[in-house]
Amino acid sequence: MSHTPTQQQAGLPLATPDIVEHDLDILIIGGGMGACGAAYEAVRWGDRHGLKMLMVDKAALERSGAVAQGLSAINTYLGDNSPEDYVRMVRTDLMGLVREDLIYDVGRHVDDSVHLFEDWGLPCWIKGKDGHNLDGAEARAAGKSLRKGDKPVRSGRWQIMINGESYKCIVAEAARKALGPERILERVFIVRLLTDKNDPGRIAGAVGFSVRRNEVHIFRAKAVLLAAGGAVNVYRPRSCGEGLGRAWYPVWNAGSTYAMSAQIGAEMTMMENRFVPARFKDGYGPVGAWFLLFRAKAVNALGEDYCETNKAMLRPYEERGYARGRVVPTCLRNHMMLREMREGRGPILMDTRTALRSTFASLDEKQQKALESEAWEDFLDMCVAQANLWASTNTAPEERGSEIMPTEPYLLGSHSGCCGIWVSGPDEDWVPAEYKIRAANGKVYNRMTTIEGLFTCGDGVGASGHKFSSGSHAEGRIAGKQMVRWCVDHPGEAPMPAQTPQALADMIYAPWHTFQTYKDATTDVEVNPHMLTPRHFMLRLMKCTDEYGGGVSTFYITSQAMLERGFELLDMLEEDSARLAARDLHELLRCWENYHRLWTVRLHMQHMAFREETRYPGFYYRSDHMPLDDAAWKCFVNSVHDPKSGETRLFKRPYIQLVPEADV
Ligand code: FAD
Ligand code: ADX
Repeated sequence: MSHTPTQQQAGLPLATPDIVEHDLDILIIGGGMGACGAAYEAVRWGDRHGLKMLMVDKAALERSGAVAQGLSAINTYLGDNSPEDYVRMVRTDLMGLVREDLIYDVGRHVDDSVHLFEDWGLPCWIKGKDGHNLDGAEARAAGKSLRKGDKPVRSGRWQIMINGESYKCIVAEAARKALGPERILERVFIVRLLTDKNDPGRIAGAVGFSVRRNEVHIFRAKAVLLAAGGAVNVYRPRSCGEGLGRAWYPVWNAGSTYAMSAQIGAEMTMMENRFVPARFKDGYGPVGAWFLLFRAKAVNALGEDYCETNKAMLRPYEERGYARGRVVPTCLRNHMMLREMREGRGPILMDTRTALRSTFASLDEKQQKALESEAWEDFLDMCVAQANLWASTNTAPEERGSEIMPTEPYLLGSHSGCCGIWVSGPDEDWVPAEYKIRAANGKVYNRMTTIEGLFTCGDGVGASGHKFSSGSHAEGRIAGKQMVRWCVDHPGEAPMPAQTPQALADMIYAPWHTFQTYKDATTDVEVNPHMLTPRHFMLRLMKCTDEYGGGVSTFYITSQAMLERGFELLDMLEEDSARLAARDLHELLRCWENYHRLWTVRLHMQHMAFREETRYPGFYYRSDHMPLDDAAWKCFVNSVHDPKSGETRLFKRPYIQLVPEADV
């Protein structure tokens, strides 16, 4: 690393940036679950080869990414379940279109990551001798552990309960210990990936800037892991005014993974998919523990269980082999709820009262109190805002139900959604050739994208949802090891980016120059005909996607004509994006997040326009193509952007079933 400081650390105001250059073997972008897994494994295998590596997170590792606030459950732990059944569950939930090789691969490795979390200090609930639940501390005191084979407390078939307020701190600490502080760079936002000047199909590094000091960082690397999560604030949230900052998905992840990979021509897959979680209204509190652990029902205003009264809505899907056995796909559960809302039978309530009272019946007073605190702890572990909201609105869950609602859409690939990058599966006999990406050296590298040397995991991997926190970590470990293999197979110099460091620095700081040029044109910098603040830009983007791209204002409905109008508006927004202005480092960050959002959500809408069917009713509807159309669309929708021509090509790729049907 060469660093020539030309100025004192500038603090938050903007000034001409220093350029800091790094020469590496492995660059890890992101500090979330996937990246922490990758770091742990890359160090394990890479240090013996003397590889130079660096992890770069836009935030602080200890509390960044989707697990930042903590979690109360690990949603993927196989235990006694088989990886084949895991594939069946994910396939059913995601309406039949998934990469079964990738899911199987996560399934066979994920428990090992959970055992590591436990070793590192994560308190996991375990079943006591009498069948009662032991929380993490009690389990530890009783000498029980998952690694030893003791049975977890399951909220559902795949989910296990944890005392997880400090989940991210624990996982981050292990990554930090593995890497050592000198191989971690925090508060640096990666803006763009760089490809080789002689071979645009090969990664050469990335460029970003510090959000704490005036520094642009250029990274040259042989292998890059892009693990910057999914996308939030790409659709207008239900909250408004001062509540606007509250969303379900974590504020850090602004689509950087999808935008940066697509921009350099990586093949993308299933970008039409989205996740619309049903959540406790306004606080966005999680529902999983209520549905699964407390066995609560969601009811309409008449007190009816709408999943029962609307059962017939599932029939067309069941008849075609979807919604099989015990798994009702997440989108179809929304589909039934949305009908109630449209037809005026809302508000929809989670019937917490009945759930708690019926469980109370078999418990003594002390156990009742413990159950009640578990219900609160579910929020306090992972969504403090919901606990605050309940407290401030005098909500006693044992007295009355609480409103739930489908949120605005989010784009992600590791929760109950599956958009992302097309990657290679494992190089094993059972994996079809169509699912392997062969590099120029003739070898296959698991989780490598179609750009040589660029890997991804977690939310980055497309067509492979339901990994959750544990599966993302396990997948990061898979990618971390493969990146080491890539570097060992490619000794010698790292590829060179085409752009000069100064040109990259100028590009990144352009919004500051725009501000400097035009700031005095009016007396209020926010009302200025020459420039656009990042806040204005985001509001305009979200208004467009919401109204034309199937957001909450149209009950998630869109069509070819609506999408086309949306594209016109987004194109104009892109034109105006050249006038984005930044007053300080924070706004510079916001500007670049918005560029990433625009790219990501436009690609999402392009994929929606291409897929002429409604594959995910309840997540979005194509009003001009309402039915499922397996004959034409039981396939992946992929896309490749050509950085030279600026064109994005959309096309189909065949879905290949690897795991035979059986009820799950
Ligand atoms: P993340 O963990 O989100 O990490 C992304 C990282 O990228 C962050 O460190 C971020 O700071 C960084 N980053 C973003 N952009 C940039 C950039 N441009 N430059 C540099 N760094 C960048 N799973 C469970 O098992 N149980 C649960 O109960 C559960 N609840 C969840 C609740 C919510 C609200 C959400 C959103 C997810 C939940 N999950 C849960 C799923 C789990 O959190 C994710 O699957 C997992 O975190 C994905 O890992 P990731 O590494 O892909 O992304
Ligand atoms: S969380 O990320 O906030 O924990 P959520 O509450 O949606 O997510 O779900 C947690 C887990 O429970 C996920 O594995 C999800 O698929 C599952 N889940 C949530 N609601 C239901 C339901 N009604 N039926 C079956 N599984 C559910």
